[in-house]
Amino acid sequence: MSSANIVEQAKRTAAFAAVDKHVDSSVRVLGIGSGSTVVYAAERLLELKNEGKLHPDLLCVPTSFQSKQLIVDAGLRAVDLDDLPVLDAASASFASIDVTIDGADEVDSELNAIKGGGGAHLREKLVANASRKLVLIADSRKDSETLGTKWEKGIPVEVSPLAWRTIKRQLERLVPQSRAQSAALASSAAFSFANPKAELRQAVRKAGPVVTDNGNFILDVAVGSIYDPLSVEQLIKMIPGVIEVGIFSGMAKEAWFGNEDGSIVCRV
Ligand code: 5RP
Repeated sequence: MSSANIVEQAKRTAAFAAVDKHVDSSVRVLGIGSGSTVVYAAERLLELKNEGKLHPDLLCVPTSFQSKQLIVDAGLRAVDLDDLPVLDAASASFASIDVTIDGADEVDSELNAIKGGGGAHLREKLVANASRKLVLIADSRKDSETLGTKWEKGIPVEVSPLAWRTIKRQLERLVPQSRAQSAALASSAAFSFANPKAELRQAVRKAGPVVTDNGNFILDVAVGSIYDPLSVEQLIKMIPGVIEVGIFSGMAKEAWFGNEDGSIVCRV
C-alpha cells in the first residue's frame, strides 16, 4: 500500500471506531465536523443507517458546506444549529447536541486542539460548544505533546476582510509573555516565537484570498510551540475583527488516532 493510502486507512480506522463507540439508536442529535477524516465517519453512519442502527429521527448538525453534503449524501437529515428543536427545555444545560464527531489538525496531550485547516473552525466551534461531547478523529501524525510542534502552518484565525492587514500586523506583534493582558501569561511564556508570522491564506496559485463559508478571510499565524493554549486563544480572540481562532482549548472529551499499523489509540 502507498504511504498516502496507509494514512487514509488510519483515518478511516479512527473514524469507524469513534462512530461505533458514540453513535447508536439513543443518539438523537449528532454534530458532523469537516475535513477528509470526517468523510469516513459519514461512510460508517451510512452503513449504520442501512443496518437500522440509528435513531429513526436522527438530526445531524453540519459544520460547513462540505459537512452538509456528507450528511445529505448519507441520506441523513441536516439541521442548522439554531433550527434544532428544543427537546429538553427543562435541562440545566444549553447544549442541544448529544455528540459531535470532528477532525483536527493537531491534538495535544490534554486534548486541546488546532482546527481550521479547512477553514471551517467558526462553525466547528459553535457546534462543539453546543455539544455535550466533542470527539476528535485523526491519523496519528496529529497526536502531539505540545500544540504547534506538528501542525506548522500556524493557527487558523478567521478575520473580517474589512481590516485583515491591520489584524495581520497586530498578530505579528503579539508578545509571548508578560506584556500581554492575561495573568497566566505574566509568569510563563504562552508560545515560543518572539515574532509570530501571519499569512493570508491564498487559493491555489495565489488566485486570491480563501473566502470562508461565512465570507471572511483566514490568517494562518505561526507562533511556534503553544505552551498555554487557552491564553493564546483568548489573546487572539480579543483583537477586534477576529471572528474565531482555531484553538479549541478544553473542548474535546476524547480523541481517536489511527496508526499506520492499523491499531488505534483513544485518549480521554
Ligand atoms: C476544518 C478542520 C478539519 O477538521 C481539520 O483540518 C482536519 O482535517 P482532515 O481530517 O482533512 O485532516 O478543522 O476546518
